Amino acid sequence: MPDSAQIQTEALPLVKPFDAALGAEVSNIDLSRPLSDAQFAVVEQAFLKHHVLVFRQQPLTDEQHLAFASRFGELEGHVNKSTHHKKHDKVQVFSNVKDDGKTTGVHPELGTYVWHTDKSYVATPSLTTVLRSPAIASEGGDTLFTNTHAAYDDLDAQTKQKIEGLKAEHSWKRSREKVGERPATAEEIAAAPPVQHPIARTHPVTGRKCIYVGSHTSHIIGMDYDAGVQLLKDLEVHATQPKYIYRHKWQVDDVLMWDNRSTMHCVTPYDAAKEKRAVHRVVVKGDKPV
Ligand code: OGA
Ligand code: MN
Repeated sequence: MPDSAQIQTEALPLVKPFDAALGAEVSNIDLSRPLSDAQFAVVEQAFLKHHVLVFRQQPLTDEQHLAFASRFGELEGHVNKSTHHKKHDKVQVFSNVKDDGKTTGVHPELGTYVWHTDKSYVATPSLTTVLRSPAIASEGGDTLFTNTHAAYDDLDAQTKQKIEGLKAEHSWKRSREKVGERPATAEEIAAAPPVQHPIARTHPVTGRKCIYVGSHTSHIIGMDYDAGVQLLKDLEVHATQPKYIYRHKWQVDDVLMWDNRSTMHCVTPYDAAKEKRAVHRVVVKGDKPV
């Protein structure tokens, strides 16, 4: 329980939707302190309605970051243990900044450059990912989000019927092969063997359907391999049209959270040799997709 003396008693957070298919900025809130139930309820409702929330100027410590994210559920680690923060195993660091302050020259986790939804390669993929940005690139390194409910709603009736009941295989190993990352280790493959999830997924809270695909998919179960790969690609191309996208331009000390059950995301390129970019992420465990 938070110390009641510390609970914020000021006015409720303000929610301002973006002029885009998803996303809203939440202001009049200090994420470094425990939220009252009333404040949290506003954030949670906004999260379910807008799918991506942006909080500006929130210089959080890792402990405060963990405390905020844990209001949404059980926290989880990453399959790639090398991303784990040295002091906090529930904080992951995606950074190209070395201890000496120089860049590594490469973007960490090439898989974030392509459209995906977090940890869809496990049986119970992430509910939300809460990111903060200690270092940002001055050019590029934006994060794009797409509203996969809107994309589902716009499918024609024939396509909706075609994908109903179909499942895709999602695989950590295959995902890394597709982007040319360091191959999955035997330990990682044992921790994250391939799983199958519906392509038309129903949100466990709102009941809305979405297109649940992205780069962690391999193929479609019970369908010719290449035809399945092509259908997954077609659905991704449809779902990532500009009309469904919010582009986040980072500022230092942004906190950004998204619903992995209604969005896909990716990072736009930047010069990883010159520009420093670091995000700390805390991830909340979700349900088995249905
Ligand atoms: C992630 C991710 C995007 C970014 O943390 O899951 O995809 O902007 N990151 O770094
Ligand atoms: Mn991601």
